[in-house]
Amino acid sequence: MQTPILQATDVWRSYQRGSETIHALAGMSLTVQAGEMLGIVGRSGSGKTTFLNQAGCLDTPTKGNINICGTEVTGMPEKELVAFRRDHIGFIFQLFYLIPTLTAVENVELPMIFARESRRRERALEALERVGLREVNALPHQLNGGDMQRVAIARALVRKPQLLLADEPTGRLEHQSRTAIMDIFRGLQAEGLGIVIVTHDPTLADETDRIIELRDGRISSPGRDSAMESSLKSED
Ligand SMILES: Nc1ncnc2c1ncn2[C@@H]1O[C@H](COP(=O)(O)OP(=O)(O)OP(=O)(O)O)[C@@H](O)[C@H]1O
Ligand SMILES: [Mg+2]
Repeated sequence: MQTPILQATDVWRSYQRGSETIHALAGMSLTVQAGEMLGIVGRSGSGKTTFLNQAGCLDTPTKGNINICGTEVTGMPEKELVAFRRDHIGFIFQLFYLIPTLTAVENVELPMIFARESRRRERALEALERVGLREVNALPHQLNGGDMQRVAIARALVRKPQLLLADEPTGRLEHQSRTAIMDIFRGLQAEGLGIVIVTHDPTLADETDRIIELRDGRISSPGRDSAMESSLKSED
C-alpha cells in the first residue's frame, strides 16, 4: 500500500482557560493520500485551523500522532521539525502574509534563503510562471488579491512540498480569482501533492475529492451535502 502523505491518529489539542479545559481537537483521525484533495468545513471555532497547525507541525498535539510521508513527527526535536516542515509542507493562508517591502519574486525566494539553497531567482521565477503571475517585480500592495495569493502559492511551492495546507485560501478573493486558484490546486493535485483545504466557499469545497466536517474538534462526517449545508449556516 502507498504511504499516505498525511496520517493523523486520534489527535487532541487542549487548552487551559482558567479552570476550564477546552478541547480544540478531540480525537481527530484522518488520512490524505498522494494526489488527494481533502476539504475541511465546519463552523467557526470547530477546530479547523487548530488541525492544520498540527498537520503542518506548527503546533504539537496534546495527545495523538501525526505522520507525514511515513515519518512520525510527533515528538521530533524542534530543530529537526523546522527542517522537516520546510522540506515537506507548504502553507497558504487567507491573508497571504507576504512581506510588504519585498517584491513578488523576492517573497518567493525567502524559503530558499532560509534553507540556504542556490539558483533562487531562477527557481522563484519558475514558480511564479507556474501560478501565472507576470508582475514578478511588483510589491504586494501593487497586486490585486488574486495575484497576491498566486505569490503566496508560489512561495509555498517553490521547494516542492508533498503536502499543501490551505486555510481559507479564497476567503478574500473574487469569483474569478477563486476559479484561477482552484485551477492551480487541481494542477498540483495531478502532480501528486496531498492537499488539505479549509474553506467556507461552497464552490471550492465542491471541487475537492472528499469533504469532512468538524464539529467540536472531531469529525462529524455526514454526506457531502449536509456538511456543506451546516457550514453555510455557520456563515449567517
Ligand atoms: N491558543 C489558543 N488558546 C486557547 N484557545 C484556543 C487557542 N487556539 C484556538 N483555541 C480555541 O480552540 C477552538 C478551535 O479554534 P480554531 O481556530 O481551530 O477554529 P476554526 O474552526 O479555525 O474557526 P474559524 O472558522 O473561525 O477560523 C476555539 O474554541 C478556540 O477558541
Ligand atoms: Mg480558522
